Amino acid sequence: TDGQYIHPSILNADFMRIGEELDRISSADSVHVDVMDNHFVPNLTFGAAMVEQIVERSPIPVDAHLMIADADRHAPEFAEAGASSVTFHLEAAAAPIRLARELRRKNTAVGVALRPATPVEPLMDVIGEFDMLLIMTVEPGFGGQSFLETMLPKIRRARSAISESNLQVSIQVDGGVSRETIERCAEAGANVFVAGSAIYRAHDAAAEIAALRELAAQ
Ligand code: DX5
Ligand code: ZN
Repeated sequence: TDGQYIHPSILNADFMRIGEELDRISSADSVHVDVMDNHFVPNLTFGAAMVEQIVERSPIPVDAHLMIADADRHAPEFAEAGASSVTFHLEAAAAPIRLARELRRKNTAVGVALRPATPVEPLMDVIGEFDMLLIMTVEPGFGGQSFLETMLPKIRRARSAISESNLQVSIQVDGGVSRETIERCAEAGANVFVAGSAIYRAHDAAAEIAALRELAAQ
């Protein structure tokens, strides 16, 4: 993991003006697109056709976060849609390693996500199969929830296990990330920061991205 990355989540954007909302965050590293199926989480958002259009329109790469059941079957569609990284939930995959290898063959970076109550330790033996580990810091499904402080030790344990194995795996945090919480996430070992409401509710999204970047780098 070299460097730190800010990924605004468009879940909190104005969906009637998606193109302009993508332009507002063009100084970020990637746009985080939350895919929800009303089954794995109680909310419904974008499908692969919409992701493909976002890829075409976005000035920056697309980071797809799939909160969908039966990831084994559906995740490849999002790699084919042109997402630069595809993250699926461990809880939603029957054969996560087979799926990770299939996604890598489709030339996308691959992430594996954990709900807050899913322990990270069982994943550590196979973490080299992934480019990124997403540690959810809220229960997935909605933007604007408050950050779960209890995830900080989990991030710390994951980072030390990854370093001990001499692997280059990014740790992404998602949920309640703001000026108030980003420094603690970085200090615990996260290096990819998703922020939805913090950036889209800001008056000046570019200034908010810059402020988060600076706090994460300290
Ligand atoms: C929640 C989504 C997040 C969400 C974050 O299920 O995965 O990406 O948009 O929004 P905030 O930053 O407002 O918690
Ligand atoms: Zn997300």
